[in-house]
Formats: sequence, structure tokens, C-alpha cells
Amino acid sequence: MTVVRNIVLMGFMGAGKTYWGQKIASYLNWGFCDLDDLIEQQQRMSVPLIFEKFGETFFRELEQKNLGNLLNKSKLVVALGGGTPCNQHSIKRIISSAGTCSIYLKLSPEILYERLHKETAQRPLLANKTAVQLQYLINERLNERAKFYEQAQYSLTIEHQNLKNFAAIIKEHNTDE
Ligand code: S3P
Repeated sequence: MTVVRNIVLMGFMGAGKTYWGQKIASYLNWGFCDLDDLIEQQQRMSVPLIFEKFGETFFRELEQKNLGNLLNKSKLVVALGGGTPCNQHSIKRIISSAGTCSIYLKLSPEILYERLHKETAQRPLLANKTAVQLQYLINERLNERAKFYEQAQYSLTIEHQNLKNFAAIIKEHNTDE
């Protein structure tokens, strides 16, 4: 049986990657890393400011640089940014990383909209959008990104999930020592 060294959570903005990542990490007594927070610490700048000053391409490079390093770590739960796995190279690295359990936290566009329309300020891709534009953007990006997210080992609809569901997966992977 493959032993899970680390767990990587992916999914759209607002899917709850950070929330669930922290819960799982504390349940397992593992470390937790939020990739956006890590990049903000490294750059000493918020994600919106990185986008504004240096552009999205630069931010994506920072994500890629950190990804390999995080996948090598043990006893770590990682919350990726919504766009981190959404290219062939990155998703391949994630799903082919030995001992990495990848989980897609899947929510409908309607629920994502409900969550995201109140918190667009911290997310540069959503800033200054009207309700209609935001709905359109969520639908469009989710369509584009689903093919990457769906390659995760597990796709979980988390509206009614609780820690037990995650615990079952973790147990199945023989993480407890
Ligand atoms: C992004 C998601 C954000 C952050 C950046 C870009 C995206 O992370 O990395 O604003 O492309 O979906 P969260 O998914 O944690 O909001």
C-alpha cells in the first residue's frame, strides 16, 4: 500500500481549500501550508499587489517554483491556489508525485458565486466585476479548469462533507503510524 506523505488540495477560488486543509492537518497532526500565504511571505507583498506590480505570469512562475518543493515534503497538507494545477506540467507533477494524495474540492458554480461575490477584493482575478460578470467568469474558468482538477486522485463534493470523509481517505492510504 502506498503511504501518503502529503496531501494536496485543489479547486476553484472559494472551494474551502484553506479551511479544510487546516482541519485535516490538525486532525493528522501534520503541518499546513497555504501556497498563497507562502508566496506572500516570500515576496513580502499581498497576492493582489504581486498581480498589480508584476503581472499574473510572474505569480504563476512563483507558484511553479514552490510546487516542486512542497511535493517533496512529508507530513504536510497543502492548499494550492485555484490556478496552480491548471496547466499540463503542474497537474502532471502533482499526480505523478509518489506519496502525494491529491484531492479536488468540487463545488457548483452557483455555490462558488454565493461564496465569492462577498470577497472579491482579495482576489485579483475577480476584482471590480459586476454580479453578472462574476457569474460568467466563474462558469467560464471552471469549465476551462475542470479538466485539470478532475485529474486529482479524488474529487469530493464538500457541501455536506465533514472530517470523517477525509479521515476515511487518509486511513485508506495508511497514513497513521
Ligand atoms: C487564483 C486563486 C487564488 C490566488 C490568486 C489566483 C486563481 O487562490 O492564487 O488570486 O487563479 O484561481 P485561492 O484559490 O486560494 O483564492
